[in-house]
Amino acid sequence: MMSKKLFIETLGCAMNVRDSEHMIAELNAHEGYELTDKADEADLILVNTCSVRERPVHKLFSELGVFNKLKKEGAKIGVCGCTASHLGKDIIKRAPYVNFVLGARNVSKITDVLHRDKAVEIEIDYDESQFAFKDFRTSPYKAYINISIGCDKQCTFCIVPKTRGDEISIPPELIIAEVQKAADGGAKEIFLLGQNVNNYGRRFSGNEEKVNFTELLRRVSAVEGVERIRFTSPHPLHMDDEFIEEFARNPKICKSMHMPLQSGSSEILKAMKRGYTKEWFLNRAAKLRELVPNVSISTDIIVAFPGESEADFEDTLDVMRQVRFEQVFSFKYSPRPLTEAEGFTNTVDSEIGSHRLSTLQAYQDTILDSISASLLGQEVDVYFEELRSDGYVAGRSDNNVLVKVKGSEEWLGQTARVRIIDVSRSVQYGEIVA
Ligand code: 5AD
Ligand code: SF4
Repeated sequence: MMSKKLFIETLGCAMNVRDSEHMIAELNAHEGYELTDKADEADLILVNTCSVRERPVHKLFSELGVFNKLKKEGAKIGVCGCTASHLGKDIIKRAPYVNFVLGARNVSKITDVLHRDKAVEIEIDYDESQFAFKDFRTSPYKAYINISIGCDKQCTFCIVPKTRGDEISIPPELIIAEVQKAADGGAKEIFLLGQNVNNYGRRFSGNEEKVNFTELLRRVSAVEGVERIRFTSPHPLHMDDEFIEEFARNPKICKSMHMPLQSGSSEILKAMKRGYTKEWFLNRAAKLRELVPNVSISTDIIVAFPGESEADFEDTLDVMRQVRFEQVFSFKYSPRPLTEAEGFTNTVDSEIGSHRLSTLQAYQDTILDSISASLLGQEVDVYFEELRSDGYVAGRSDNNVLVKVKGSEEWLGQTARVRIIDVSRSVQYGEIVA
């Protein structure tokens, strides 16, 4: 019998990437689906959506229309992820050919909704924290592992707590078992995932041993075969000294930290309900740079949040000047339904917002140019995980510099010392020295 084929498109964050892996594994183990990269050959088309900003939500419906036209006779279309959670049955109202809607917190039900036409499963109090998903990993070299589901914060701009629900930590022993399985399978790099990883241990669904994120990091790093640990996303508010010190001390933890700033103005941070001030953020970043001189720090920034004055925006640029982030993901504020800020009336003119965004990006480019120039001639250890079609293999240094080297698949899964010989803002070129 020919196997059934699954086409899956994954938008949004690393959490969605892992959710897609979970669904692929469940569909393979229980329903015999194999992956295809051609939507017109698929028996099932899944779109794993993101709703953090408005634009991708608009794009979703035009995309669904395209899939509906090109899909083969009898093929099903399912909408999963955060927009599924947010819009629920309205998706089927607007696109009646969609067969089912499966929320970001309900991915374990994929093989169930598949057989219930027009099923909508989007409860956000559903507990998947101990569900035993079957196994599938996109990369044999790097394993994404969830440590919690949901988010307990109430940032006023963010829809995620409404799509992924309250935060529940996955029991430490289940995480360690997953890490061991991944390491036994050859993944030297472990990527721990949660909406707010350093809040780990806040709430378990059962009577689990109370373990915090710092302790979890220690346990993960003790697992045989694990060489590198990364995680995303931590919250600046929960970056206590113990956590930063463990980050600095533990040689298996990669020296790259995501610190989502959102705004450099204490006033705006208050309106965003981020729980920290400009000074706190600067203090944490300085501590990190002091204890880990080669750390690379990335961030997320929103411009033109309601009420943001020119002086507030200057504060954001000031934090960028002081911290000199190695990577900045910047966005113009996009009002989202179900969020507190949606009701704020002191909105910033859209053109001013666009102007601030381009000012910020141009400023960051000047910082990046000087950071990348300083990389020239340096030697870094690169863990190769990706074969590029142009005769290069690509990987990242411990502190997250993306490096390409001429070479073939023999380098995949290997770590090598590389000298940087040519630089640009986003990717560096190197040659292997040992
Ligand atoms: N508008 C613009 N950007 C947003 N983000 C989250 N919500 C919004 C919004 N309403 C950004 C934040 C977050 C990143 C994943 O997306 O910077 O860290
Ligand atoms: Fe998008 Fe946020 Fe959902 Fe991730 S958690 S898919 S970023 S809305």
